[in-house]
Order: sequence, then structure tokens, then C-alpha cells
Amino acid sequence: MVEIGVGKRVAVVGATGAVGTEMVTTLHARKFPVGQIELFASERSAARTLETPYGVLTVNPFSLEAAREADIILLAVSGDFAKQYGHALTERGAVVIDNSSAFRLDADIPLIVPEINGHLAKGARLIANPNCTTAILVVALAPLDRAFGLKKVIVSTYQAASGAGAAAMAELRQETANALAGRPVGHKHFVHPIAFNVIPHIDSFQDNGYTREEMKVVWESQKILGRPELAVSCTAVRIPTFRAHAESVTIETHAEITPAAAVTVLMDAAGVTVVDDPAAAAYPMPLTATGEYNVEVGRIRRNLVFGAHGLDLFLCGDQLLKGAALNAVQIAECVIA
Ligand SMILES: NC(=O)c1ccc[n+]([C@@H]2O[C@H](COP(=O)([O-])OP(=O)(O)OC[C@H]3O[C@@H](n4cnc5c(N)ncnc54)[C@H](OP(=O)(O)O)[C@@H]3O)[C@@H](O)[C@H]2O)c1
Repeated sequence: MVEIGVGKRVAVVGATGAVGTEMVTTLHARKFPVGQIELFASERSAARTLETPYGVLTVNPFSLEAAREADIILLAVSGDFAKQYGHALTERGAVVIDNSSAFRLDADIPLIVPEINGHLAKGARLIANPNCTTAILVVALAPLDRAFGLKKVIVSTYQAASGAGAAAMAELRQETANALAGRPVGHKHFVHPIAFNVIPHIDSFQDNGYTREEMKVVWESQKILGRPELAVSCTAVRIPTFRAHAESVTIETHAEITPAAAVTVLMDAAGVTVVDDPAAAAYPMPLTATGEYNVEVGRIRRNLVFGAHGLDLFLCGDQLLKGAALNAVQIAECVIA
């Protein structure tokens, strides 16, 4: 553990990855009371150093014994890793906040987006952070659900390469360079080349024809919103952007809804910035949402199919922040509040 000041002992596991890197930055940016910090990754990163806001820190190969000495453990590794170590990491009293899908649907493990259900963090030892697309979506849906009662939600996503990790982001860069240089594009992390392409396939296909990513949006939204019966359908699509996921969302509501009433509700909602001035060409986009904590919501208009009970909206959020690292740090803030 590296001494920082007075506060909690924090371990970040997966610290060299796309999410782990942002976790360290976000802890610092939000002035989380870090007393000591230790970074872990795989054996591949042993003794690697990282430039962080806390100075240059050495990465340690993961060790269960060393990591579980922390008070708060932020896990940003795979689901298999979380299943293997998640519970064991809590055995000395640490609170583990896991970014993988390993525990999200377990009935006894809270799945938290602090703007919606942060109170569930109190007393929990193992807490799940939602799927990135879901976290961004529910920040906008929850206030609309409270005000108008959601009946149906239909989502199409436009997901950035970094949603698949640091190596996938590097692959987009390399494929794009290859394509522009007239070289064979190649592909490794995605099922098809991602440069200059759009791929309606994220994670594995399920028996019902949806992908697992799409079903995560369904199941996790229902759990976080506390609405197990809510009708949700999603089409998840990978696009060649580096960062920030966009989502086109159609809702049907129980109560009548107007775009103006929805804007009023969303302007008051924590974690949301309304960006909706079509005349000035202002709407949510990855370029403006990248690096932002809030989810941008715009293009709010009456839906032509559902009429007075329906809206269309477009949203965009930084999936490495609200979809991952920021949400995890916000959960840690709820834990110590
Ligand atoms: N990317 C996103 O937008 C996003 C959003 C929400 C949730 N998530 C979830 O967050 C988790 C991390 O995703 P990511 O995108 O950050 O992946 P990533 O960029 O591929 O990083 C993976 C991290 O895990 C470490 N790791 C791998 N095997 C390990 C082991 N045996 N022991 C210790 N550390 C190990 C890697 O260390 P090395 O560098 O040493 O290999 C690296 O630090 C995943 O479960 C992912 O589904 C990702």
C-alpha cells in the first residue's frame, strides 16, 4: 500500500485496464478519502509503473492476501476472475465493488446506480456495478419512471470500441490506420473489422435471438429500477468511436407525457444534462459526452406511434465513467457516507 494521507485503504484490481485506469483518476478527481492505495493487475504487468494523479505507482501482480487488506476494493477484471475471488476478497472486512457481470443478477447482491438506489450500499460487502449501457440508460429512465410510469422501453445502442477494453480501443486505432494506408485491416477483438463498420453483435447470441449484451440491458434495468415486469427490448450495436456510448430510446408511459414535461423532470434529475437545442445543432454526442460525469439527454420529442403516452430521446454517456469507474467510485462514496 502506498501512503497518500488520512483515509481508507483502497485497492484497484485491473488497474492497467480501460476501467481501472479511470478508477484511479476518478478517486482523485472526486477527492475520495484515500489513505493508502495499491494497484493490482495480472502477472503480465508485474512491476509496471503507471503515471497517476497520486504520482507514479507500481502495479503489483494480484494477490488475494495483499488485496483483501484494503477497506474498499474496486474490481475491474473479468467475470470469471470476480467469481473466483469476489467473495474471498470480502473475508477480512473489505467492501468489494465489482464491475463485471458476475454478480449483477444475484438476488442477494445489490446492483447500484447511486442516483437511483445508492441506499443499498450501506452494510453490503459485495456490490455489483451495472453494465455500462444500462447504467447510462437508467440514469435518464428512472426520473421519467417516477414521474410518468414507464410501460415499455425500446433501445438501440451505438457503443464505442473502448466498451470492450483497452486492447479493443487500440485495435480500432490500428484497423483505422491500416484501412487509411490501404493495408489489410484485420481484426481480433471484434467479430468483424470495426474500422468504418457497424456491428450489431456484442457478446454472444442467446436462444431468443438477442445477444447477451442486449439481455443485460433488459435484466439489469428491471433490477435497478425495481420494475421486474417492465417491458424492455434492446438492439446493441458496436460503432467505430473510441469512447462514450449513445442510445436511441423510445418509451411508452402510463401517464400522459409531453416533451416539455419530460425536459422539466430531466433538468432536475441527478446525473443528467439536458442537451436539446436542435436549432443550434445541440444534442448528445460521443465527442461532447466523453470525459463528462453526467449523461447527456436530448432529441426529446413526442413519439409518433405512442402519441400522448410516448417519447423518443437520444442519450450519450461516457461508459468508462458513468458506465464504469465513476459509478463505482460513487458507490464507494455511498459505502463510507
Ligand atoms: N470497458 C468498459 O467500458 C466497461 C464498462 C463497464 C464494465 N466493464 C467491465 O469491467 C471489467 C474490466 O474491463 P476493461 O474494459 O477495463 O478491460 P481491460 O481494459 O481489458 O482491462 C482488464 C484488466 O484486468 C487485468 N487482469 C486480467 N487478468 C487478470 C488477473 N488474472 N489478475 C489480475 N488482473 C487481471 C488486466 O491486467 P493486465 O494489463 O496485466 O492484463 C487489466 O488491468 C470487465 O469485467 C468489463 O466487462 C467494462
